[in-house]
Amino acid sequence: MSEQVQSLADEVEAAVSAAMGTVLPAELATEDPLVRRSDHADFQSNAALPLAKRLGRKPRDLATELRDQLAAVPWMTSVEVSGPGFLNISLSDAAILGRLALRLDNPRLGVPATQTAETAVIDYSAPNVAKEMHVGHLRSTLIGDALARVLSFLGATVVRQNHVGDWGTQFGMLIQYILEHPERHWRGAELDEGEKAAGGAVSALDELYRTARVEFDADPAFKERAQRRVVALQSGDEETVAAWQEIVTESEKAFQQIYARLGVLLTLEDVKGESFYNPWLKDVVVELRDKGILEESQGAQVVFFDDIRGPDDTPVPMLVQKRDGGFGYAATDLATIRYSIQELNGTRLLYAVDARQAQHFDMIFRTARRAGWLTDAIEAVHVKNGTINGPDGRPFKTRAGGTIRLADLLDDALRQARQVIAEREAEQPRNHDLTPGELEEIARVASIGAVKYAELSTSRVKDYAFDVKRMVSFSGQTGVYLQYTHTRIASILRKASETTELPAEFHATLPLEPAEHALALLLDEFSATLNAVATTLEPHRLASYLYELAKAFTTFYESCPVLKADTAEIQANRLALCRLTRATLAQGLDLLGIAAPERM
Ligand code: ARG
Repeated sequence: MSEQVQSLADEVEAAVSAAMGTVLPAELATEDPLVRRSDHADFQSNAALPLAKRLGRKPRDLATELRDQLAAVPWMTSVEVSGPGFLNISLSDAAILGRLALRLDNPRLGVPATQTAETAVIDYSAPNVAKEMHVGHLRSTLIGDALARVLSFLGATVVRQNHVGDWGTQFGMLIQYILEHPERHWRGAELDEGEKAAGGAVSALDELYRTARVEFDADPAFKERAQRRVVALQSGDEETVAAWQEIVTESEKAFQQIYARLGVLLTLEDVKGESFYNPWLKDVVVELRDKGILEESQGAQVVFFDDIRGPDDTPVPMLVQKRDGGFGYAATDLATIRYSIQELNGTRLLYAVDARQAQHFDMIFRTARRAGWLTDAIEAVHVKNGTINGPDGRPFKTRAGGTIRLADLLDDALRQARQVIAEREAEQPRNHDLTPGELEEIARVASIGAVKYAELSTSRVKDYAFDVKRMVSFSGQTGVYLQYTHTRIASILRKASETTELPAEFHATLPLEPAEHALALLLDEFSATLNAVATTLEPHRLASYLYELAKAFTTFYESCPVLKADTAEIQANRLALCRLTRATLAQGLDLLGIAAPERM
């Protein structure tokens, strides 16, 4: 069983490169052969145009010479010069089938492990303690998780980091308020049923936090007590630390519940919250000071950058240590990057965080570079995401103007999915043999898949509208459509296996129908798609690919009968195409963290 399967595009590239080696002077022979998929043939090479220009020759002449070389390649059925000097290349059905046979035979579908040299430290999700996880954290959570899955499938060592916001002056305020108002309970056991249903302890904490904030702003005496409480927390005062720990534990429990519901990989072991980095903050400051990177500005320790300036052209510094000695968000992230490099040996540091923090990460990366922690051998990337808007395209708020709780959104998606499925069953019973419990499970899987696919099919830097009705639709580019396509193939294969032995291989001598040919070429693009995700850190490339694949399958299935194919050989090839499509869809969905159900 071959471990890795070269894709056809790679083979075409290699063939064009070889032809270039024969007809071009040595210094140009190693240029990019510029091979792409083509609308007019299977592939095209655009290489002749820029190369001819550099040689002062006519592009069509050069393309013709390349074509003459490629004419000898047995697995190409036609190579033609077109337009100003493109090469249109089509492949033999046998070559395509041969490639698919290798993929079908391989548990990884022949996808090469291209990232084995990489240790990717992925910082994602990072909700804040004592606050509800809200829709703002959904993007980072899902994007980070998809990247963790894809990179690890491609062989990278992946270290997940959940940089929970569990530290800072706000905890002094919250703890002080709680200690002063023991009657305002928030602990799970003391909540009544209504409060528990509303999200339990964390939503009670969220509420308390807001009340505390009001008092903090209004009452200078409370403000002072709250500030003393911060000092008590930082110096390890027993009562204060115990209260803090209780709040943190309760919040983390709630986060884990959401992760379990979403099917996100993050566990308690992945939590490396802000407090985790406390012991290193002083060190980081000392090191930066010794290296001459810190400057004093109005009593605070800051870093300046020549080209980061405010509106009035005054330099904007990064605040590392406050005048009162306190450390902030920047100091902690300097510690995260140093830790990721020096302790975790990360070669690729990915921070999946809201795009609004772009300047923060720019400053962190530049400082880490100046400090010599971040070298050219290490890549640090702020994997930015845009915001989620409401269905009307405006900022997403509750009617009362509050932030939307993630748990409520998921509930809403579940209700919608139940309704869509019930309506379909009423129209035409497809799952009459399933129990209500099984139907509920289908709705659950569909609703989570819908939310995840809607997120991951959007370019991550763009904003998008959270429109649950559209997300759970069986048609259009939705998770439900992809899951449904998977169930259709599963059902074809189930039926076929009742009467025939499922084929283990392709009959490579049979000609392919156009829809089969198109589906087959797309199946061969899976590994290139994953590599593109790994390079660009854009999961939507995989999401779009899977949609194209599902559409190509639908076209194939409409024009090429499988169960009623004319001959046993044709049927065998079509069943093999079904099997590979199903495996590719299931694997691809899994890499997006989306379930591929058998029934729907
Ligand atoms: N807790 C922060 C927030 O809610 C996000 C933290 C992102 N990660 C980091 N290393 N800064 O905005």
